[in-house]
Amino acid sequence: MPKAPSGASFVGSRRCVACHTDQGTQWSQSKHQKAIADANEQNVLGNFDKARFAYAGTTPSSFGATASSSHERMVPDGKLADFEVKYTFGVQPLQQYLIELPGGRMQALSIAWDTRPKNENGRRWFHL
Ligand code: HEC
Repeated sequence: MPKAPSGASFVGSRRCVACHTDQGTQWSQSKHQKAIADANEQNVLGNFDKARFAYAGTTPSSFGATASSSHERMVPDGKLADFEVKYTFGVQPLQQYLIELPGGRMQALSIAWDTRPKNENGRRWFHL
């Protein structure tokens, strides 16, 4: 994988908006602004309140009580382990969750949250 140029770092969107005001306003009102976000209580839409999910005969995934300390049991390398959800990914009509694997790799869970209203068959976990 190519390395970032030495000395380069993420400056954040505020720096850009200082000059690109119109683009900043449009972007802040779009879903792109929420495309990836810290997995905190404000950003996590899925129900992590001790939710359980079984798929195709595999061990049910279980989730922690609060979003900020949410973990999912999954099976990379065949071993069960707990992983902290680091980032939310997307906002509508579904939200995915990213965990960090060794080597700084971000992995999306195979289970996502349907963010549509309940009367549209949303507000539920599903396997991608
Ligand atoms: C100090 C003011 C300033 C800041 C801060 C700034 N830009 Fe720019 N940016 C400009 C100017 C001036 C241009 C050239 C506009 C032109 O040629 O019409 C430009 C051009 C661009 C273009 C090319 C637009 C095109 O039509 O080809 C992109 C993309 C861009 N900026 C993104 C960013 C991003 C992302 C950031 C933040 C990381 C950022 N800019 C921060 C002043 C700034």
